[in-house]
Amino acid sequence: RILVLDFGSQYTQLIARRVRESRVYCEIHPFNEGLDAVREFAPAGIILSGGPESVLDADSPMVDAGIFDLGVPVLGICYGMQLMTHLLGGRVEEAAEREYGRALLHVDEAMGPLSGFAADEGTEVWMSHGDRLEALPAGFRSIGHTDNSTYAAIGNPERNLYALQFHPEVVHTPRGAELLENFVRGVCHCHGQWTMGSFIELEAERIREQVGAGKVISALSGGVDSAVASVLIHHAVGDQLTCIFVNNGLLRKGEAERVQRVFREWYEIPLHYVDASDRFLDRLEGVEDPEEKRKIIGNTFIEVFEEEQAKLGGADFLAQGTLYPDVIESVSPKGGPSATIKSHHNVGGLPERMKLELVEPLRELFKDEVRELGRELGMPEEMVNRQPFPGPGLAIRCLGAVERDKLAPLREADAIVLEEVKEAGLYDRIWQSFAVLLPVKSVGVMGDQRTYENAVCLRAVESTDGMTADWVQLPYEMLGRIANRIINEVPGINRVVYDVSSKPPGTIEWE
Ligand code: XMP
Repeated sequence: RILVLDFGSQYTQLIARRVRESRVYCEIHPFNEGLDAVREFAPAGIILSGGPESVLDADSPMVDAGIFDLGVPVLGICYGMQLMTHLLGGRVEEAAEREYGRALLHVDEAMGPLSGFAADEGTEVWMSHGDRLEALPAGFRSIGHTDNSTYAAIGNPERNLYALQFHPEVVHTPRGAELLENFVRGVCHCHGQWTMGSFIELEAERIREQVGAGKVISALSGGVDSAVASVLIHHAVGDQLTCIFVNNGLLRKGEAERVQRVFREWYEIPLHYVDASDRFLDRLEGVEDPEEKRKIIGNTFIEVFEEEQAKLGGADFLAQGTLYPDVIESVSPKGGPSATIKSHHNVGGLPERMKLELVEPLRELFKDEVRELGRELGMPEEMVNRQPFPGPGLAIRCLGAVERDKLAPLREADAIVLEEVKEAGLYDRIWQSFAVLLPVKSVGVMGDQRTYENAVCLRAVESTDGMTADWVQLPYEMLGRIANRIINEVPGINRVVYDVSSKPPGTIEWE
């Protein structure tokens, strides 16, 4: 198995994911875990991730240099490369210019991660760094370069130490997965027998260990994540799990009924339904700030949970379907990887006083991996392929203050979008398609009457993990049909626009 030490890169989890795709088990641990813990983990190989810091700074994240003497192969990526160089006696300096974006890697020696790459072959790689190597540590040589970096890939084959200046884990490095596979299989001699099936058993074991004889309640939202998490936890601890489904008043049309039917009938998992709409909507009254809205929803959600679990006779654990992208976009720079972009309701805003310990079995997975996991658990395609729906629900698609009389048209417009997308056979091919109610009024004309009503924005994006996304080029006729239907069928809407921004720089949701 492989150990990934995390230095705070946006991409750390992508490294783990690529390793899993090579069917090799791996775990991500914080960089400062200590040499003994690393030894105890007994990895077949170690990958040092990238990170936002510079090794030249006084308080930059470090590892014990003893890590290179364990006789275990190590691959350093970006910051990991600079760290390896720095600790082994090479020289790192601030580059005159940051290098960011595509570069062409010329292979000097096809060894280690670059095995099987034709020498001098140009292969596209993705660079993102501010520091650069000026001198190699003893025993190292350059195995690949780009026009800007003499040392884009280096290696010390005698000690099985390799490092890359670029990011092999991102899709912009087309042969990156192959390169990582070369490291984990070729250099580290991992066999590649790990599967989603083994993930289920391993994770089930972990859940049993964490939970013991305790009682778990699951926060069921009807979405893929909480459904898969619940089924997995049910698989692990059976009747120790009770699912609670909170109607927060921010659900889609027909959703509350659908979730109750599916869970009770398909899965026969006991479901406790609570309609807390009024509490949520009353608290959201007049609140415009998106972060404030998310916090209120998060806090209310947990509060309702605490009450309901008390009614059910108490529980010790709260299960949540938190995914990796939710985690990465919610932690602060010093507390862990990446900057706070949005505080996702699953992980943000949990009150200090919360008495329930979290069980988050999907924490290390991306959405498409969760879908694969769901299939492996025998869940029906209709459930597994469901488009993601955010925890704060329609609140973050109802821009500005959330009001009951704004939610009603939004819900209708949203239902029309989904109906048309399904009708066109596009539902499964699109990551998310939905309507956003804009706090903008414009003038229109209907019959002979002047109208002055709200606008709805359509959003449809393609994505594989929610971290990046592209807008979908829906057929014009379809856009026209959706717009017509919304304007004709939904009172209070007289204009429909289409969002053509990708992520980044936009995000998928508007708030
Ligand atoms: P953004 O808008 O950040 O969304 O590009 C990325 C993905 O996350 C979903 N999302 C959420 N999911 N709780 C969730 O469970 C949240 O608070 C939340 N906010 C956004 C969003 O729908 C997209 O799939």
